[in-house]
Amino acid sequence: MGRKNKLKRFADVATFPNVYEVDPAQESFLTNQEGNSSDLRGHWASGHYHNDHPLILELACGKGDYTVALAKDHPENNYLGVDIKGARMWKGARHALETGMNNVAFLRTRIEFIDRFFAPGEASAIWITFPDPFEGKVTRRLMAAPFLERYRRILKPGGIIHLKTDSPLLYEFTLEVIHSDPRCHVLYANPDIYSAPLDFPELEHKTYYEIKHLGIGRTIKYVQFTIV
Ligand SMILES: C[S@@+](CC[C@H](N)C(=O)[O-])C[C@H]1O[C@@H](n2cnc3c(N)ncnc32)[C@H](O)[C@@H]1O
Repeated sequence: MGRKNKLKRFADVATFPNVYEVDPAQESFLTNQEGNSSDLRGHWASGHYHNDHPLILELACGKGDYTVALAKDHPENNYLGVDIKGARMWKGARHALETGMNNVAFLRTRIEFIDRFFAPGEASAIWITFPDPFEGKVTRRLMAAPFLERYRRILKPGGIIHLKTDSPLLYEFTLEVIHSDPRCHVLYANPDIYSAPLDFPELEHKTYYEIKHLGIGRTIKYVQFTIV
């Protein structure tokens, strides 16, 4: 995508009613496209989706492929894609608007601040799909212990964290982090999910990056765990 197009999409998403942007000062409130503060912390379901359905997050959602696919499969849940790149989430957000999907929204923020935007226990589950492995920068990995601590704060008890990745490094790293934390409990781990029939139908969905990784012959890994 060219720079001009990226800038246009970035500007566009600021006008979408299903995209929330964070105040540049990174305070714990949100501003909507009219510039009004709309602090949804603790009441995303009633305040945005106008229901009381469970809230499922997709972190590092990119174009929002998984957010949209899961939301289509599960109209009984609310889905929120989170990423720092507005021009990327434009695709999923626009698709959701054009197809009238009321159970999909997006939040543009750094995941480092994720626990400022949700009350304790507000999220029912978290998906993390193909995050950057950050080979040389352990602390930036979305599966590093400080990130898991943020996820723990916003997840309901028993809420599941799902990681789908092509990276052997990130897969092994995640298992190490989980095994070294007695509050974590692995429910399922598979280093090559497509080598046999899928154990969970939702794994069938493929993101933009997953398609690229599969195209160059990478195997896809998946971990499912809880943190109390
Ligand atoms: C490799 S892409 C994967 C996108 C998508 N999940 C997919 O599979 O196509 C990683 C995404 O993570 C986002 N990202 C990385 N670190 C982030 C952070 N700390 N906060 C918010 N977004 C982040 C990037 O903007 C990028 O869109």
